[in-house]
Amino acid sequence: MKLTTFLATAFLATSALAAPPAYTKPNSQPPAPQPPAPKINFDLIGFAASNPIGRTTGGAGGKVWNVFNETQLVQAVKGNTPKIVILHGDKPLKLAKRLFPGANTSLYGAGKGAEITGSGITVANTTNVIIRNLKISKILDNDGITLTNSTRVWVDHCEFASEFSQEIGPDTYDGQLDIVRASDWVTVSWNYFHDHWKSSLVGNSDVLRDVDFGHLHITYHHNYWRNSGTRGPAGRFGHQHVYNNFYEDFHYQAIHSRSDNQVLVEANVFRGDTREALSTYGLVIPEDSPNTSPLGDEEIDGFANLGAKNDWGPASINITQVGNFTKAPYKYSLTPLKEVISVVKKNAGLGKVRF
Ligand SMILES: *[C@@H]1O[C@H](CO)[C@@H](O)[C@H](O)[C@H]1NC(C)=O
Ligand SMILES: *[C@@H]1O[C@H](CO)[C@@H](O)[C@H](O)[C@H]1NC(C)=O
Ligand SMILES: *[C@@H]1O[C@H](CO)[C@@H](O)[C@H](O)[C@H]1NC(C)=O
Ligand SMILES: *[C@@H]1O[C@H](CO)[C@@H](O)[C@H](O)[C@H]1NC(C)=O
Ligand SMILES: *[C@@H]1O[C@H](CO)[C@@H](O)[C@H](O)[C@H]1NC(C)=O
Ligand SMILES: *[C@@H]1O[C@H](CO)[C@@H](O)[C@H](O)[C@H]1NC(C)=O
Repeated sequence: MKLTTFLATAFLATSALAAPPAYTKPNSQPPAPQPPAPKINFDLIGFAASNPIGRTTGGAGGKVWNVFNETQLVQAVKGNTPKIVILHGDKPLKLAKRLFPGANTSLYGAGKGAEITGSGITVANTTNVIIRNLKISKILDNDGITLTNSTRVWVDHCEFASEFSQEIGPDTYDGQLDIVRASDWVTVSWNYFHDHWKSSLVGNSDVLRDVDFGHLHITYHHNYWRNSGTRGPAGRFGHQHVYNNFYEDFHYQAIHSRSDNQVLVEANVFRGDTREALSTYGLVIPEDSPNTSPLGDEEIDGFANLGAKNDWGPASINITQVGNFTKAPYKYSLTPLKEVISVVKKNAGLGKVRF
């Protein structure tokens, strides 16, 4: 400390100890207004925004379709011309068939959010799709949302839920959001993933190296994961930047990087009953896929790099190989670690962005 600074500090400390003034001047200034709470930035950031093939824009500038039933929804998301499809409804819409959005589509839940159940969404062989403010619940025999052979996708402020219990086990439901077959340039932000065993798989087989290697660039940020089993996310052959997520009771294993996958993991918080927050050990643990092999399934290890400090809570980590994904190739700002729980719980899921 410089001497002048020291003297100033000493003087302030002394005057603070002095007796309080007997009265306040009647026309003294009112207290300075508090600066407004910093605005949370819900803009698209990460790999779906910054990538070599162009920012994800969905249906921006296209026709707006307000839809209320399955027939209208199926019709509206078809084709590749830019379109914004807003699903309305207070009750869950039970889809009879999976929904296949075309390229240049934004699909939004109206108001406080819309819900689909029965069948989920497959984004296949396409590009430039945005899904926001939609709840996807209890999809049997398939994923909630699958991205396959697709690029530039943003899944934001959605909610995914089914059930989690020992009776239900890992295979009653499939994934909540699985990203496979060379899909690339994806951002998964501000979603609420809960009550489900196997959450988000990236790359769905260790024999697909030739298909997947060099793809699967995904940013996962500010998601709230609660009461889940495995795959938060689990990646093979790609690169995932996982930051500012909050995990609560993610029971067995949250972030798994295997089969030469690379993760950059920073400023995430883990609480509650979570055994393992992060692992690069190739073993696919028996709690994930007990039917493949009761002892788990051996794959080669992945890589992990740690950026800004994480708060692992009671969970352990097992980093067997440090990789070279040391820095995300885009601009983003980190929520301070101490604020992650409150910011994520308050702002993830439905009804935070309105359409
Ligand atoms: C869907 O809504 C439209 C517009 O209200 C209506 O014309 C159509 O009959 C509805 N279709 C079904 C299958 O309910
Ligand atoms: C998406 O829309 C843009 C702008 O209209 C168009 O140039 C592009 O071909 C569309 N993409 C596909 C896959 O059709
Ligand atoms: C995606 O493309 C592949 C290869 O052309 C095809 O087999 C598959 O049916 C397509 N999927 C969808 C949903 O269109
Ligand atoms: C991937 O999608 C493209 C269209 O975008 C298609 O031409 C290609 O056949 C698909 N590849 C596979 C393996 O499905
Ligand atoms: C961590 O990884 C090593 C391999 O490097 C493995 O032997 C060990 O069992 C792993 N620990 C856990 C808890 O999985
Ligand atoms: C990063 O590491 C992987 C795995 O060792 C390697 O295949 C790749 O070439 C490396 N990339 C760079 C840019 O060094």
